[in-house]
Amino acid sequence: MRKLSILILGSIFFLSCDTAKNETPKNNEEELVMYEFSEMALLMEEMYKTNEELKKKILNKEAIGDFSDKFLNIHSAVLTNPKDRDASFEIFSKAFVENQQAIFSASPEEVRDQFNLMVNSCIACHKTTCSGPIPRIKKLLIK
Ligand code: HEC
Repeated sequence: MRKLSILILGSIFFLSCDTAKNETPKNNEEELVMYEFSEMALLMEEMYKTNEELKKKILNKEAIGDFSDKFLNIHSAVLTNPKDRDASFEIFSKAFVENQQAIFSASPEEVRDQFNLMVNSCIACHKTTCSGPIPRIKKLLIK
């Protein structure tokens, strides 16, 4: 059941991750209703929103607050496809978390560059596992 839901997700929302987009589900009534986002997909959406707000604060030169521990959940959140959590995923997630943390200790002159480094580390990982959302992630970059 869960596997079928994933296939359906892959064929409908292929923009989010484009790995399963050519697979056609055999039965699509019940499963459609039952689909839930994976823990990781939800975390990703939350990271997106949090960084959208952070970008606004940086542009408005407001106080940016502190690093949120919720980003650390990237090390444990359950993925739609658990096989995606391989050695390279661990390296990319570590680099990402370090770049996210460094935003909060960057000087006012460096904070934009550090923010863009963080966004680029989202993109670096996505190039290896899940290229669908890259155009959307690029919109976070501060020009
Ligand atoms: C270490 C690798 C990695 C990093 C770093 C990473 N992502 Fe992801 N992202 C993924 C994977 C894998 C998925 C698919 C998750 C799933 O389906 O369970 C995903 C899914 C997404 C999605 C789609 C979620 C959905 O609705 O299905 C968005 C949007 C996203 N990531 C944005 C971001 C943003 C923004 C960042 C940085 C702030 C980021 N990602 C950092 C690997 C990564």
